[in-house]
Amino acid sequence: MHYQPTWESVQQHPVPDWFHDAKLGIFIHWGLYSVPAWAPPAGELDKIIREEGWEAWFTRNPYAEWYLNSIRIPDSPSHAHHVATYGEDFAYDDFVPQFNAAVETWDPGEWAALFRKAGARYVVLTTKHHDGFLLWPSRHPNPFKEDYHAQRDLVGDLTAAVRSEAMKMALYYSGGIDWTFNDTVIKNIVDIAKAVPQEPEYVAYADAHWMELIERYEPVILWNDIAYPAAADLPQLYAHYYNTIEDGLVNNRFTQEFNLEAAEAADIMGGKHFDFTTPEYASYDEITEPKWEATRGIGFSFGYNQNEGPEHYLSLEELVCSFVDIVSKNGNLLLNVGPKADGTLPQLQRERLEGLGAWLSVNGDAIFETRPWVVAEGTGNGQMPVRFTQKGTTLYATMLEALAPGAMTLDGLVAADGTQIKLLGHTDSLSWEQVEGGIRIEVPAAVPQKLTDAPAATLAITPQPERRA
Ligand code: GLC
Repeated sequence: MHYQPTWESVQQHPVPDWFHDAKLGIFIHWGLYSVPAWAPPAGELDKIIREEGWEAWFTRNPYAEWYLNSIRIPDSPSHAHHVATYGEDFAYDDFVPQFNAAVETWDPGEWAALFRKAGARYVVLTTKHHDGFLLWPSRHPNPFKEDYHAQRDLVGDLTAAVRSEAMKMALYYSGGIDWTFNDTVIKNIVDIAKAVPQEPEYVAYADAHWMELIERYEPVILWNDIAYPAAADLPQLYAHYYNTIEDGLVNNRFTQEFNLEAAEAADIMGGKHFDFTTPEYASYDEITEPKWEATRGIGFSFGYNQNEGPEHYLSLEELVCSFVDIVSKNGNLLLNVGPKADGTLPQLQRERLEGLGAWLSVNGDAIFETRPWVVAEGTGNGQMPVRFTQKGTTLYATMLEALAPGAMTLDGLVAADGTQIKLLGHTDSLSWEQVEGGIRIEVPAAVPQKLTDAPAATLAITPQPERRA
């Protein structure tokens, strides 16, 4: 298919299978803000917006990558921290030499190996966040600030490492906020719309960057953030991209018109054409179309925040259960890590990735290459939450609580004679019988406890049972 530079043509673009199959991506927020690495760990986006509103969000912004905006709000904790730590006269750009010195020792191969081990199939790196600092040596340098880019080609080095671990490489670019072009301090949601640079120089700059990133690094996703200038010709960019990268996708944040009335944070942004949506610190109650990708940090921030401890991080159980929930409802998880300036991944983040990888090495069949079933949610024993996925003739039922040895009933399901039921990670088939309430399965005491413990043991049922009408 050859795409024309029109909305009608690019809207024909199908979501490639690899993205449906992949389920897990790793997001990386890394830049100048990784040097101060500081934000108040205030909480999760949707919750704060709902309970306290946008102004509270921006004043106590838990996103460490927003440091430059946060320190420009006079009564914010970040402002107080900045003055106390670096002094009134220390400018954000004074972090540039520190960042450049720190990244010299970074080993991209180590990241790629860890992400692979975690089970990720793709990686998304911030090439330019809202501060405007570039992570690659662009032919289109910042017109206002000299050498406002990493000395090392961080984008190129990570791209090579990721591909050598057989994962796909995708790129994030903040098209809607660039504080070097428009330094409107963002204190409320309406300020976001005011902060989007609209001048022709910026349109050309952002377009040239996307074109250069496509040519140089061949990303499988154009993961744009916040918005895109209204005068830009997006069908032109998309058609060029789709015609160049066969398996490519674009996200839904090329917003050229905001919906500032939207009640949910996730609905403020929305491009006219996209391959998938990107709910942030949010998920859904049911199977949701079109294809979506949930994104969040392991804690409350994307950029590394030195104030976060285990109490702000997802536990491994929470991470696994939320991942299973997302996949059962047609989502992928784009799980963010925030490295320190020198590329070290904080121990707690590392542990979560390794834990997720260990779980996937046993239960990956219920995740990768699956599709949502008829419904996402079910129960066991009347109350235990269960999530379903399917692949071929098999139904996967993942229990979101620890499974005790003995009898357990998958409620409301009807199995055909000869059905095989297995607990992933355990070789023998389990014995079962059809009862009035569902399929009653015997979990033998011989099953190792590490399989039945939370998080999330999975039953594979072949052929797929029916749901009781
Ligand atoms: C946002 C934020 C940001 C983060 C991101 C990830 O809207 O502004 O800091 O990069 O989206 O989803």
